[in-house]
Amino acid sequence: DTENPLRPKTLADYIGQEKAKENLSIYIEAARGRQEALDHVLLFGPPGLGKTTLAGIIANEMNVHLRVTSGPAIEKPGDLAALLTNLSPGDVLFIDEIHRLPRTVEEILYPAMEDFSLDIIIGKGPSARSIRIDLAKFTLVGATTRSGQLAAPLRDRFGIHLRLELYTPRELASIVSRSASILGIETDPEGALELASRSRGTPRIANRLLKRVRDFAQVTGNGVITCETARKALDRMEIDELGLDANDRRMLLTIINLYHGGPVGLDTIAAAIGEESVTLEDVYEPYLMQIGFLSRTKQGRVILPPAYAHLGLEYNGQLTM
Ligand code: ADE
Repeated sequence: DTENPLRPKTLADYIGQEKAKENLSIYIEAARGRQEALDHVLLFGPPGLGKTTLAGIIANEMNVHLRVTSGPAIEKPGDLAALLTNLSPGDVLFIDEIHRLPRTVEEILYPAMEDFSLDIIIGKGPSARSIRIDLAKFTLVGATTRSGQLAAPLRDRFGIHLRLELYTPRELASIVSRSASILGIETDPEGALELASRSRGTPRIANRLLKRVRDFAQVTGNGVITCETARKALDRMEIDELGLDANDRRMLLTIINLYHGGPVGLDTIAAAIGEESVTLEDVYEPYLMQIGFLSRTKQGRVILPPAYAHLGLEYNGQLTM
């Protein structure tokens, strides 16, 4: 996945996330100037916004190697020890879904991050002893969908916290145009913007839809992605003008039809539509909140009037917030 040609390799080629990017470029320049490893970086934000891409850029800009793993892939302390003892000074270890690290692993990660040392117990019973291994000064880049999911002691050990936000349609259109040119796909600016507007603020979705719209343009058109071809193709994929797909609409309609538009608890919604609560929270809700269709309140989730209008429904409820 690290050789996905659509992934930019430098900060200069990374579009959007201006706040995160500007600060990160300072931290990188400063660490390089001092010839030190970059402080540990925590990236958080909804899936598909480019957290893995940024980890690759950090390694590239720091001129070091990148190792990629994920929380669920590290099952035992020994798995993490094997990764850490193979790092060279300054190397970047990227742990995706770091909130899913097992507790036992998290505990040996703390001294590794703080003191660059590993305390390992060897043997069992009375002959067991603890040995300390010194590690290279590395940079941990951790990614999680929400920083709140992370245990505070772990979160506090990251010196750099970067929040990634959903992209605007304009930023996404630039990403689509860039991707199209890398893949040799012809798009006009209106076609790129139409595709971008239906990609839920998410580059991963935009790049996926770009390839599908190309298929439609090639088979049913003249190969060029115009506003018209993008619109037709996305309509056929049941992705509406705002980028909502069947799952988004099902969530909205369930809350409206079964729970009068809310407020209703997340777990209740999840059970009603047969999805996991965290999927609703991390995948569906960020975009629905961004476009003003859904609100998280103390009493639960509430569907807002613009969602009714979009779905062609009459809004006659009262908002209790
Ligand atoms: N591909 C995925 N995310 C990107 C970004 N932020 N900039 C450029 N290309 C991307």
